[in-house]
Amino acid sequence: MVSIRSIKPEQTYPLRHSVLWPDKPFEYVKIENDDEGFHFGAFRDEELVAVISLFIDDKEASPVEARFRKFAARPDLQRQGIGTKLLNHVIAEARRLGATSLWCDARLDAAAFYRRFGMEAVSEIFYKGPIPYARFSRTL
Ligand SMILES: CC(C)(COP(=O)(O)OP(=O)(O)OC[C@H]1O[C@@H](n2cnc3c(N)ncnc32)[C@H](O)[C@@H]1OP(=O)(O)O)[C@@H](O)C(=O)NCCC(=O)NCCS
Repeated sequence: MVSIRSIKPEQTYPLRHSVLWPDKPFEYVKIENDDEGFHFGAFRDEELVAVISLFIDDKEASPVEARFRKFAARPDLQRQGIGTKLLNHVIAEARRLGATSLWCDARLDAAAFYRRFGMEAVSEIFYKGPIPYARFSRTL
C-alpha cells in the first residue's frame, strides 16, 4: 500500500542524492528555491520510497507553467507503479495551482516513461555532466 503525501524539502534530499546524484556532494541536490516548491513523497509502510518536487517558477507568467524536478524512486522499488502515482499526483496539483502546462528536464533514460504521460521532447539534447537530457512538456 503506497500513499502520497506532502513533505518538507529536506525530506527529499536523501533520495535525490542516493538515486540521482550519488557521486556529487549532498549539498548538490538542494535547489535554491526549494522553499517555494511543493514536495511530495510516496510512503510504503510509513517509509519514504520516492520523491518529486513541483515548482511554479514565474508566478506572474500567463499562462502559468509548472515544472517538476528531482523525481526519484528507490531503485529496488522502481517499475512497480509508484512513480506513476507520484506523477499523476503532480499533474493534478499543477492543475489545481492553475498551470496550463507542465515541463521537466528529463533524463533520456526516462523518456519512455514520460511519453506515457503525454509528455514530448521540446528541446535539443543537452548534458548535465555525462547525462543526456531533453526538456519534455505537455499541456494540462
Ligand atoms: C523515473 C522513475 C521516477 C519512475 O518511477 P517508477 O516507480 O519506476 O515508475 P513506474 O513503475 O510507475 O513506471 C511506469 C511504467 O513506466 C516504465 N518505466 C519506469 N521507468 C522507466 C524508464 N526509466 N524508462 C522506460 N520505462 C520506464 C515501467 O516499466 C512501467 O511500465 P509497466 O507498467 O509496463 O511495467 C524511477 O524509475 C527512477 O527513480 N528512476 C531513476 C531516476 C530517474 O531517472 N529519475 C527521473 C529523472 S528525469
